[in-house]
Amino acid sequence: MKLTIIGTGYVGLVSGVCFADLGNHVTCVDKEEGKIEKLQQGEIPIYEPGLQELLRINADAGRLSFTTDLTNAVRNAELIIIAVGTPSMAGGEANMSYIYRAARSIGEAMNGYKIIMIKSTVPVGTNEKIKAIIAECSSYPFDVVAVPEFLREGSAVKDSFHPDRIIIGSDNPKAAAIAVELHRELTDNILVTDIRSAEMIKYASNAYLATRISFINEIANICEKVGADVTEVALGMGLDQRIGSSFLNAGIGYGGSCFPKDTKALIQIAGNVDYDFKLLKSVVDVNRDQRNNVIQKLEEFIGSLRGRTIAIWGLAFKPNTDDVREAPSQDIIEELVRRDVIVKVYDPVAMDNFRKGFDHPNIIWCSNAISATEGADALCLLTEWPEFAEMDMRVVGSKMNNAVLFDGRNVFKRELIHHLDFQYYSVGRPHLNRTKAGERDHRIYAAD
Ligand code: UDX
Repeated sequence: MKLTIIGTGYVGLVSGVCFADLGNHVTCVDKEEGKIEKLQQGEIPIYEPGLQELLRINADAGRLSFTTDLTNAVRNAELIIIAVGTPSMAGGEANMSYIYRAARSIGEAMNGYKIIMIKSTVPVGTNEKIKAIIAECSSYPFDVVAVPEFLREGSAVKDSFHPDRIIIGSDNPKAAAIAVELHRELTDNILVTDIRSAEMIKYASNAYLATRISFINEIANICEKVGADVTEVALGMGLDQRIGSSFLNAGIGYGGSCFPKDTKALIQIAGNVDYDFKLLKSVVDVNRDQRNNVIQKLEEFIGSLRGRTIAIWGLAFKPNTDDVREAPSQDIIEELVRRDVIVKVYDPVAMDNFRKGFDHPNIIWCSNAISATEGADALCLLTEWPEFAEMDMRVVGSKMNNAVLFDGRNVFKRELIHHLDFQYYSVGRPHLNRTKAGERDHRIYAAD
């Protein structure tokens, strides 16, 4: 099929590469010239494992191209995918202006029957508005199909080729059948439903996953008080097939471009029809508090933070991405800086993105994990990059002023860290305190 994709963000770019790799002819359109020039040279603007290689293979094979010329791209395509952003506005509502602008441009460029597939996450009823906008600008026949995207950053290529399910929302069986055909090779799990339900499935899925995270984080907070271990609790819960084991990792809360935005948007969607989504409001509050807890815990360990040096491992909202949008690291580092803390930070790929959004004379940008810990009064692990779990913690401890470790993602084995004489705090697991911070027994290191 001849496809045109509007928007070269995560969803647009990954979908474009995936559909090209399946043998379709794909044109990706974006209004940012610089971005398109880079893509034409085979450079991707994001860090996403495997994506750049696959993009080059498909571009070289002549199946994938990039342009700013939306009109011609629409005219040459049988099916057009809208994958532009829907950022949060003040109050949590999703900003639909990019979507509506794309719909208008499609309508104005139409030259025959087209299917318009919406992959952006949009509030219930938006696909119908898109239909109305296109119809206003064009007299050619067309169908709008809602196909929400569920890929995760960091594993976007794998998720695109092996989705758990494809949701197709349509009010025309013929258009739905074409959309099914396009996805047939990817999975047998294809649900064809009405447009409004398809729109709702995306929000409900993200809200449910965010709810699981806030739920297990509250269980973790209770575990700390009653002396239970949340990793054991999650393991035991997950063995129940009705519950399942994924999305039960306690930590410093969720971030990223989807969960924070989509939970707030769903609260707003419910509010617009006079429904108070109390449960989801609590999910958002719990997530915010979970970040704030980090500062409180640090104070419990090392007393006043003013003038102290804190090392931070990990800035990205999760591993395998350079995305720092809504990352817990942002709130935590801003609060530390506000308290006159010297913050030594390291992340394998997200440093530039973080620095673009927030820089301060108190932040020291370190070139590796070890150098961030030199002279630090405490170390906070905020993103579970595999390289952190593999660090020689004995060396790390020897570089620090106080061997205090706050493990915000429960990466380390408690017994191992205990053996290395760290003052160790994780989320929802009993503390194993050998010595008080600042009273480290150096003979243990000498014996090692
Ligand atoms: C999410 C959805 O998974 C995806 O289907 C949707 O299309 C976009 O939003 P993404 O934001 O890329 O994907 O990352 P995900 O792996 O879902 O993690 C989101 C956040 O939850 C991260 O900050 C992660 O650290 C956190 N998380 C996840 C937990 O704190 N605990 C868990 O058990 C799982």
